[in-house]
Amino acid sequence: MTEQDQNLSKNQYFFDKWAKNYDRRSNQWWMKRFHLPVFKELLLNQNTKILDISCGTGELLKKLEGKAELYGVDLSEEMLTKARTKLSPKVKLRKADVHALPFKDNFFDYVISAEAFHHYYGQQKAVQEMVRITKTGGKVIVADINFFLKPIHWLFKRYEPGHVKINSKKEMKQLFEQAGLKIVGQKRNFAFAVMTVGEK
Ligand SMILES: C[S@@+](CC[C@H](N)C(=O)[O-])C[C@H]1O[C@@H](n2cnc3c(N)ncnc32)[C@H](O)[C@@H]1O
Repeated sequence: MTEQDQNLSKNQYFFDKWAKNYDRRSNQWWMKRFHLPVFKELLLNQNTKILDISCGTGELLKKLEGKAELYGVDLSEEMLTKARTKLSPKVKLRKADVHALPFKDNFFDYVISAEAFHHYYGQQKAVQEMVRITKTGGKVIVADINFFLKPIHWLFKRYEPGHVKINSKKEMKQLFEQAGLKIVGQKRNFAFAVMTVGEK
């Protein structure tokens, strides 16, 4: 098994197991710190196409229902099963790996990844895929973990299954710029969440 396959199966196993209890209140309090800044970035109408990559149980998409054309992908079938029980069938959900997204070029107005980027084995490839499917003038938004203290990052890497790397604010900007995005925003929310916004 390649390192990449190992990463995918670790993530799949971990999140399939977690899906049943994922929506408990304490966890959702944490997730909201990543979602709330994202909502403020979105200009919505019924034709706005939004993809939530690694959508988990669909909490972010749930808040946007009825306001835009919504799509979600995740590696974990169990997460998607939970999301399907909460979202209208109009929200198009499917299983996919961020490194090979099943969408055509220049399709979405917004491509979002919340609290998941540190799980991606090929972070540069992942950003390239996000850029590929975003329209010119559209936005790629990544909200991910970022603590002030490096030892906390070390603990995450050591103990979280499927963890690859938490990026600094500077590293995140570099990944975006290398993929051809123009940085239009970077914001900290709370002690542990940083959102980076790039325009194609
Ligand atoms: C911590 S959860 C975040 C879920 C959701 N975004 C939220 O805010 O609640 C991380 C998610 O990333 C997904 N994931 C991990 N690796 C992935 C990959 N290579 N492609 C797509 N999704 C992936 C997991 O299945 C999991 O649902």
